[in-house]
Amino acid sequence: MAGQQDRDPQQGQRRAHRGVSRGLARTLRPLCDADRQRWFEVRTDPAQIAFGAPAFVRPPASPDDLLEQVVASQAAYAELAPGTLAIVDENDRLLGDIAWRHDVPPPLRIADIGYSVHPDSRHRGVATAAIGLMVAWLTTDPPGPAQARVQLDHSVENLASCRTALAAGLEREGVRRGFLPLRDEHAVGGVRRHDVCLHGVAVRT
Ligand SMILES: CC(C)(COP(=O)(O)OP(=O)(O)OC[C@H]1O[C@@H](n2cnc3c(N)ncnc32)[C@H](O)[C@@H]1OP(=O)(O)O)[C@@H](O)C(=O)NCCC(=O)NCCS
Repeated sequence: MAGQQDRDPQQGQRRAHRGVSRGLARTLRPLCDADRQRWFEVRTDPAQIAFGAPAFVRPPASPDDLLEQVVASQAAYAELAPGTLAIVDENDRLLGDIAWRHDVPPPLRIADIGYSVHPDSRHRGVATAAIGLMVAWLTTDPPGPAQARVQLDHSVENLASCRTALAAGLEREGVRRGFLPLRDEHAVGGVRRHDVCLHGVAVRT
């Protein structure tokens, strides 16, 4: 399971493989070079482009475009800093990604998360399991980042993400109007702001 405070990212990866098993998503670990082709497929999937990233985030043009982000994933994991982790199966095959960031001041210890599953691995509980692992690591699993609350926003039109967040135990807390600019080829300028559902879980430590 992600969560070891390793200075050596390779060592972090090896430890991560001893992680707990929960359905298909065996564990979370930093991204590595071998993930780049499947990660590229995740990041350029039409559903991901429509709902998974704000319009100002440029999708990668090729797997090579992801080199820097692989290095960043390993560095962030080593520092327990916000970043992106790979969701992998028992054969270490990439099933998706899950990221955390601080959208509010870090001293509040509120982690915002986002996730995507490879199109060939959807509808098998991967995202639900990965969110469970991520929430445990972010909040209570020592030595994790010790966050007090985990939250996520998704477009009100993204039913899959709503059901996934609920399945993972993040209650629906309300709607934020005009919150998220997403790509829309029919909208003026190619971007439309969506209302979002806010989901969250608090540990209260
Ligand atoms: C949203 C996403 C991550 C779900 O991943 P997944 O691994 O297929 O989800 P799970 O198999 O864990 O399913 C969890 C729940 O969501 C439901 N669900 C999944 N895909 C669905 C869909 N397309 N439509 C309706 N419900 C869906 C499942 O039925 C399940 O609900 P249940 O527990 O009530 O049976 C995936 O569809 C995806 O990557 N979408 C594109 C990127 C994206 O939207 N990311 C979220 C941005 S906020």
